Amino acid sequence: MSIAIGDGDGGDDGNNDLYFREAGELITGNPSQKWPQNIEYLSGFGNHFSSEAIPGALPEGQNSPLACPFGLYAEQLSGTAFTTPRNLNKRSWLYRIRPSVTHEPFQPRKPRHENILSEFNPDNCSSTPNQLRWKPADFPESPTDFIDGLYTMCGAGSSFLRHGFAIHMYASNKSMENCAFCNADGDFLIVPQSGRLFITTECGRLQVSPGEIIVVPQGFRFSVGLPEGPSRGYVAEVFGSHFELPNLGLIGSNGLASPRDFCAPTAWYENDDHLGYTIVQKFGGDLFTAKQNFSPFNVVAWHGNYVPYKYDLSKFCPFNTVLFDHGDPSINTVLTAPTDKPGVALLDFVIFPPRWVAAEHTFCPPYYHRNCMSEFMGLIHGVYEAKAEGFFPGGATIHACMTPHGPDSKTYEATLEVQEEIKSSLLSGNLVAVWFEACAITGLAQESSESNFVDLRSKHCHIYLESTFCSSSYLSAHSWITTSMRAYPYK
Ligand SMILES: [Fe+2]
Repeated sequence: MSIAIGDGDGGDDGNNDLYFREAGELITGNPSQKWPQNIEYLSGFGNHFSSEAIPGALPEGQNSPLACPFGLYAEQLSGTAFTTPRNLNKRSWLYRIRPSVTHEPFQPRKPRHENILSEFNPDNCSSTPNQLRWKPADFPESPTDFIDGLYTMCGAGSSFLRHGFAIHMYASNKSMENCAFCNADGDFLIVPQSGRLFITTECGRLQVSPGEIIVVPQGFRFSVGLPEGPSRGYVAEVFGSHFELPNLGLIGSNGLASPRDFCAPTAWYENDDHLGYTIVQKFGGDLFTAKQNFSPFNVVAWHGNYVPYKYDLSKFCPFNTVLFDHGDPSINTVLTAPTDKPGVALLDFVIFPPRWVAAEHTFCPPYYHRNCMSEFMGLIHGVYEAKAEGFFPGGATIHACMTPHGPDSKTYEATLEVQEEIKSSLLSGNLVAVWFEACAITGLAQESSESNFVDLRSKHCHIYLESTFCSSSYLSAHSWITTSMRAYPYK
């Protein structure tokens, strides 16, 4: 039995709704017992969930009884400081067969993982204001699991100081076996671009396909399986903040990502001996390992509001301009990791989904601009509206703070040529681009700045934008552009 109680806003405001979801979600893929097709999820964002793999496994009326049901151990996992205000406080109680503390001491992992950063400074990364683009990375040829396939692209700040972020990518071809990963540095937001992930966590299991995302909060142990073989994608990590749903402001109470579309796992456990099981802990950017003789996925029941969750990006309800001009990309924010400064995100997760373009006499691709924020972009599938060529699924771009950027030459020219035809059109029906916007100036990890996949052609993508300025006659210089401009002379 699995129940979730809460109102989806992460707060304790007395407005508890009841979400009850017994029906599982049909999962296609490997039908084996290891990666089953049907997984049951709980619905809602920030809820105070309860889940039992065995009825009666959750203590009633208290969190830490003298003796827990079925001889389980009670263990709290805190995602915020104990005294964090109640509407932001995150914690869960896990009732497990053996407590997490039952392990041998942590040791530095050998060989050391050379490609992960959690502290960004001039000694370990470089910086450049140039526009940068990467081609999709190849899948590894030798057996490589999620941990070994992870590499840092860029970031800022420090996990030690609990402020900053990192953008990683991964390319793996092997499931994690007899080991679990734990990130003590921050939350992971994982965006598979190719290849389904089967992620086992202490709260239960989740299948995550390209087009979906998963957030694994700081401190949760998880293992990544590859039911369909190789997988690659993007990983955003935030230090000292957690992802939240953005405020909707004047949009109102509905739109963008709906709380009910977020899926948390249901309790699932294994009780077999696992001799030599390895916990790999990321701590200050370095990896440490500890051995134990049991699986960490031994939680029979849990309750709380600190949980892993996934979200299907196709459920995002986009808003846009309906007459003229171009909205700022923030309108497509799925999740935000806030700073203490109102309206300024440590890291925003934004998507560019399929959507109707209805604006008239408007240059509809993203406008040319310079941004006080730093932008990292990836592509799940489709063709991004501002890049007619050179930006492929699995690739990446970085536009640094105040670096000019915008549509490439071909996109600009093509947009003007077909202006009449795009008054109302469905933009790239299969497009899903993802975008991370950060308040800090990013440093480039050596792995990214010296990568073989740096696309040197990207520096030329704007170079052919020529002047069409004609001071003698506005319309004569632009008369070939669009009839809709003539129809609206006030523009
Ligand atoms: Fe931008």
